[in-house]
Amino acid sequence: MKDTTDHIVDPSYDYRSKPWFEHGDERPSNRSANPTFYDVCDARISRRDVMAGGVASAVVSVFGLGVSRLAAQETAASASALLGFTAVAVSEADAITVPEGYSVQILAASGTPITGSMPAYSTSSTGEEQGMQIGQNHDGMHFYPIDGSSTDGLLVMNHEYIEPRYLHEAFRGQPLDSSGVVFDADGLRDTDQALKEINAHGVSVLRVTRGADGTWAIVEDPRNRRITGLTPMEIEGPVRGSDHVKTLYSPDGTRTRGTLNNCANGWTPWETYLAAEENWAGYFSNTDAEMPREHDRYGVSDDPLGDRYGWQAAVGAGDEFARFDASTKGASATEDYRNEPNGFGWMVEIDPFDPESAPIKRTFLGRFAHEGVIFAPAVAGQPIVCYSGDDSRFEYIYKFVSAGAFEPGVTRGEILDEGALYAARFDDDGTGEWLALAPGENGLTPENGFADIADILVNTRLAADQAGATKMDRPEWGAVDPVTGEVYFTLTNNDRRIQVDVNMANPRAVNQFGHIIKWTETGDDHAATSFAWDLYVIAGDAQRSATLAGEPLGDDNIFACPDGLGFDAAGRIWIQTDIGEAQQNTGDFAQFGNNQMLCGDPRTGEIRRFLTGPVGQEITGIAFTPDGTTMFVNVQHPGATTTEEEYAAGTLKSHWPDGGDAWPRSATVVISKEDGGVVGS
Ligand code: FEO
Ligand code: CA
Ligand code: CA
Repeated sequence: MKDTTDHIVDPSYDYRSKPWFEHGDERPSNRSANPTFYDVCDARISRRDVMAGGVASAVVSVFGLGVSRLAAQETAASASALLGFTAVAVSEADAITVPEGYSVQILAASGTPITGSMPAYSTSSTGEEQGMQIGQNHDGMHFYPIDGSSTDGLLVMNHEYIEPRYLHEAFRGQPLDSSGVVFDADGLRDTDQALKEINAHGVSVLRVTRGADGTWAIVEDPRNRRITGLTPMEIEGPVRGSDHVKTLYSPDGTRTRGTLNNCANGWTPWETYLAAEENWAGYFSNTDAEMPREHDRYGVSDDPLGDRYGWQAAVGAGDEFARFDASTKGASATEDYRNEPNGFGWMVEIDPFDPESAPIKRTFLGRFAHEGVIFAPAVAGQPIVCYSGDDSRFEYIYKFVSAGAFEPGVTRGEILDEGALYAARFDDDGTGEWLALAPGENGLTPENGFADIADILVNTRLAADQAGATKMDRPEWGAVDPVTGEVYFTLTNNDRRIQVDVNMANPRAVNQFGHIIKWTETGDDHAATSFAWDLYVIAGDAQRSATLAGEPLGDDNIFACPDGLGFDAAGRIWIQTDIGEAQQNTGDFAQFGNNQMLCGDPRTGEIRRFLTGPVGQEITGIAFTPDGTTMFVNVQHPGATTTEEEYAAGTLKSHWPDGGDAWPRSATVVISKEDGGVVGS
């Protein structure tokens, strides 16, 4: 996904005058007075001086903050026993590269039919047909084995957003950039194009099997399913039935339609899927003279057409499109869609094994730009714990701890409807605290504008502002080390952090390359309210990076903008990159080539480049079969770097994966080791 811009350092900054839509970015929305400015102390000043000297020297002070970590002593020059492959070089080719001894298969490209009448992929497909085909712009993904199999399962994936120019044959040859849409002479959107776009969003469930020759295929199955921006969904948890979500569609505030901008994901210990709603705000517009805080703090657009695809202008198609205009129209909230945006920004639970089940928005996990959610290992008799990042500049990392205890074979998603939500504060001494976002705690009182838990959850960002959480450099994916229980989070970049905002957990001003943070909960208890943190890697080039061992990255592993993250069963950490399309292959970023995936040994700190993707894309989404011999990886938005002039001329930067003159398509690729071994070993 492209960068988002949800925070400004100067509260007086007039963000509404800025052309944010130019590259599809979300509008900035955090104008809180919550201090980002770091307390200046002597130590800080000397640290600032160190930072000015460059990262290589700065790591001396960044790493080893008293956290129980053995890195530097243990790691020096040891070759990892976990990493059994030779690194691939950076690449600008319109192709996937993997290490010698590995194979790549294209499995599930956008537009591939999976259900209904199985309409074949065509750039001329209708909106209805798109609802039976795999969506566009694949992101988070998980493999659900059928009966424990490593050759047969349900692959579930998110479709984050769309590139209309690669969706509609009618757009061919027009000067369109990656977010461009075409309005008719009356300024309206074609209703079938709008339907196709909303049906290209959401989630796909597809059964996949591996044949005797090792090739994977999509097979027809009654569980194959498309969930889109139109699918009816339940609202559960404290926000269900509250005034915040009462609309003309659901006067009792129990339901909403659709899920949008599903970035990363999560999977529960009871084998369901969680789709994250990330940059949903710009799909909605509100032209009221005063926008309510539950819209404004998230960046709902004051442009009558929103900041995305202008579905508000698909008139004549019914209220499923008109609802994206959340301006006040009726006499009360149940006569219009002023509360429609409040039904978005949640984690959405989907049971892939029950195609009739309605997806459920689990409101106790908070409302923000959810990148994804990651569960700590479930332990019988203990609470369920999960972590989620809010991917915008200067936003927060959150944790949910259930009230109920996990009972294997019994516990279902309802356990997520009661518990405690926390936001993280990272202190400069290498410790941290989880700040409860609960009524009466951390200033969350009616006097401060927080009426009850539903109000806190709908306004999660404001609650975390009030509680004093640490503003981070765009939290993306998280992952829990299956060996140690340490929690890792990618912080992809933040070019707005200025020197006085620097802190130990976000140690670089103008952080264009990103870093990865990790922590251990006190007492190794994921439900603890304190933790000890450290940095795993500072990304960048050879001059501006550092590994856990204090070494700079080099030819085998320079990377920028970590985003996707995951552990395999053996404890390798997989890192996927998302250099934004405006930066890819240009200037300071040219040295990193196309977006890539790397594999690390969390014990030694060693990192090796495993895969490079085609032109213009990001690598995002990772899943494994239980035996680890098949890895699924998503390639999102190939060709996004094609300029509007190039698009008009038909000289696209990518034709991956079909080749020839084909429009590029997002696709799932299957990686396996030619000797049948565990991927990465
Ligand atoms: Fe959708 Fe934060 O990447
Ligand atoms: Ca990203
Ligand atoms: Ca992402």
